[in-house]
Amino acid sequence: FDQDPAHRPLYGKHVLVTAGPTREAIDPVRYLSNRSSGKQGFAIAAAAAAAGARVTLVAGPVALPTPLGVGRIDVESAEDMQAAVRRALPADAAVMVAAVADWRAKTIEHEKIKKHSSAPPALILEENPDILAWLATHPDRPGLLVGFAAETENVLDNAKSKLQRKRADWIVANDVSESGGAMDGDDNAVVIVAADGVERLDRMPKHQVGRELVARIAQALGAPAE
Ligand code: CTP
Ligand code: CA
Repeated sequence: FDQDPAHRPLYGKHVLVTAGPTREAIDPVRYLSNRSSGKQGFAIAAAAAAAGARVTLVAGPVALPTPLGVGRIDVESAEDMQAAVRRALPADAAVMVAAVADWRAKTIEHEKIKKHSSAPPALILEENPDILAWLATHPDRPGLLVGFAAETENVLDNAKSKLQRKRADWIVANDVSESGGAMDGDDNAVVIVAADGVERLDRMPKHQVGRELVARIAQALGAPAE
């Protein structure tokens, strides 16, 4: 590790990151999930560790190696993710990059659902907890709370309303409608939306987005400027 304090602006800070999709069981062999690769969240965790932070990375099911210096907790469902986040508190900053499944099956069948010869089964869904919104009103709310928003339309308007609805400090928005989209690609073009303004970053590799974001987090947490 780099020993120069100027290069470790998050030294002494605990940064919590959620990443990847969640997986919501339907029966022992089937689940609901989404296309999140976890790459952006892992890149942020890596950048925060490189900046000297203690990092807890709560990861849904992804095929990625654990970044150097990062403490990783693997989870499956949104409820598991919420419990792992709760146990990881307190944190100085939390960056909620996970694409949490919005819904889960209302009942998980104990045996594999069979086709029989009847009609397809109806899937009854119920809403998952909103981990970001829950954390925003938690007694141990991190001093800096950052959400992500993957949008396919009205990126800025949706991000601004999410910022207010979820009481986050920043929402990092990206447009996932483009081909070679942000969900599983290696590049990302994001807009950082805060109460006091909007900053648009050029399209760049997810690792670089991670470093840019971590530099802003360090500044917000009061790290001395380099
Ligand atoms: N989030 C969360 N828990 C959920 C859903 C979302 O913590 N159950 C977090 C995500 O990690 C992200 C932010 O909330 O940081 C925004 O997620 P997004 O899916 O864009 O927002 P939703 O409120 O679920 O709205 P949408 O209908 O657009 O999916
Ligand atoms: Ca959602």
